[in-house]
Order: sequence, then structure tokens, then C-alpha cells
Amino acid sequence: MHMKSKEHKLATITKMFNDLAPKYDLLNRILSMRMDVWWRRRLVSLLEKQAREQGQGVMRVLDVAAGTGDLSLMIARSHALESGEVVAIDPAKEMLAIAKIKYKRAKLPTAKITFQEGNAELLPFEAGCFGAATVAFGVRNFEDLEGAITEIYRVLSKGGTLFVLEFSWGNVHNLLTRKLLRFYFQRVMLPVSEFFSGQKSSYSYLANSIFEFPAGERFLHLLGKRGFGKLEEHKMCWGLVTIYIGVK
Ligand SMILES: C[S@@+](CC[C@H](N)C(=O)[O-])C[C@H]1O[C@@H](n2cnc3c(N)ncnc32)[C@H](O)[C@@H]1O
Repeated sequence: MHMKSKEHKLATITKMFNDLAPKYDLLNRILSMRMDVWWRRRLVSLLEKQAREQGQGVMRVLDVAAGTGDLSLMIARSHALESGEVVAIDPAKEMLAIAKIKYKRAKLPTAKITFQEGNAELLPFEAGCFGAATVAFGVRNFEDLEGAITEIYRVLSKGGTLFVLEFSWGNVHNLLTRKLLRFYFQRVMLPVSEFFSGQKSSYSYLANSIFEFPAGERFLHLLGKRGFGKLEEHKMCWGLVTIYIGVK
């Protein structure tokens, strides 16, 4: 996808995800061979561990770039939350519409999710009002990555933790693995996603953004620069998918 100017990126990305919304979950499952479910689950287990350590049974969690709500739902179902609340924010209305349907169907007993349209770079919340924030496969879409991280830092309470799950090409060091993954992206992922979504440009943009994301040490450095401490990195799938953690 050709981005005409930075100002247009949010509008272009939002339109792209609105158009992809009806096929998004199906394509995720096919292209990742269902591993995306396991990756999000790993994030939730790290969140649960943090909640246990901090004795936080009731917690407000902000799920940024929530999309169709898979992570928000998983968090709301977990005991990290008990009777807490998840606030799911995303600029793409159609992605959130699917998340809302899934939430209704889930009939959660206690924890609740509220959905809100919005931009990570300008969060419509007071400072310090969330115990944790999560972003799954969202940060590489932000136009101003540092600005968004600063905003997330602002809305976290002291001791609050940010969990970022993201493709991290820069963490894949083995040459053979890099070749195999490149082959998979170009020869399998792009044709399959084009076939199912009818949109070639969206998935070539998504694949390119994986190669361009400042992964590993570079991302941890950015978190540190924006005030986060106790930085951690949990690599999965030869490093291709990584969970980054930072504490305010
Ligand atoms: C690849 S999807 C990930 C959705 C979901 N978190 C998941 O795990 O499936 C990326 C999401 O980022 C959202 N997004 C893009 N730019 C954003 C921004 N500036 N602020 C918040 N969300 C944004 C998109 O609308 C899209 O729903």
C-alpha cells in the first residue's frame, strides 16, 4: 500500500481494517495455523502472573488496537481480571462491530468489556486510570509509535504494565529460518490472503510492516526511552513473534 503522507496513514489504515474486518479472524487462523490464539494466550498468562504478583484481582485493562476483540475477550475470561474491566479501543468501526458480536455471544459472567473508537496516539482517558495495557499486532500500524507509547504510559497507573505482542522480524537471526519465513510470506501468505480477502495491497502492506518494525532491542530501547522499566522480551516461533513487557 502506498502511503501518500503521514497525515493520511490513520485514515488509510482504518479503511483497510474496516474492509478486511469480515475476513480478518478467518485469515488470522488460516495464515498462522491457529498459532495466533496460542500467542495471545501466552500474553494473557504473563498478565495473570503480573496480576498475581501485584495482588490485583480487580483491574482495569486497556486493550489498544483491539480489532475484532480476541485478546480483549481472552483477558475478560481470565482470572487476571475476576470482576475487573477491559476497555477495548480501535479506530476501525467494523473491526469493533465484530468484537461486540463476539462479546455478546460470549455471555461473560462477571468481567465486562467496553468498546470505544479511538487512536492510540491520542487516548481519550485520564492519566493513571489503567492497571495494565495490551497491544496485540497493533504497534507496527501506528503512525507515531513513540507518541502512542507515551500515551499508553500516561494512562497507566504507577506499577502498571504494558504488554506488546508483535511480529519481530529483527529477532529472527537464523539465516535458514529467515529464508523459509520470507518464502512463506511471499509465496503462501500473500496469495492465500489475496484469494480469501480479494485485497492484495492490504496484505502486502501488512507483510512489509513486519519487515520494517523496530523489533527486539530497538523496541525495548524505545520503551525505556519513554519511561518504562523492568523491560522483558519473550520470544516465540524462532523470535518471529515476541511479547515485550515494560512497567511504569
Ligand atoms: C492486525 S490488527 C490487530 C487486532 C487485534 N489486536 C488482534 O490481536 O487480532 C491491527 C489493529 O490496529 C488498529 N490500529 C491501527 N492504527 C491504530 C491506531 N493509531 N490506534 C489504535 N489502533 C490502531 C487497526 O484498526 C486494527 O484493528
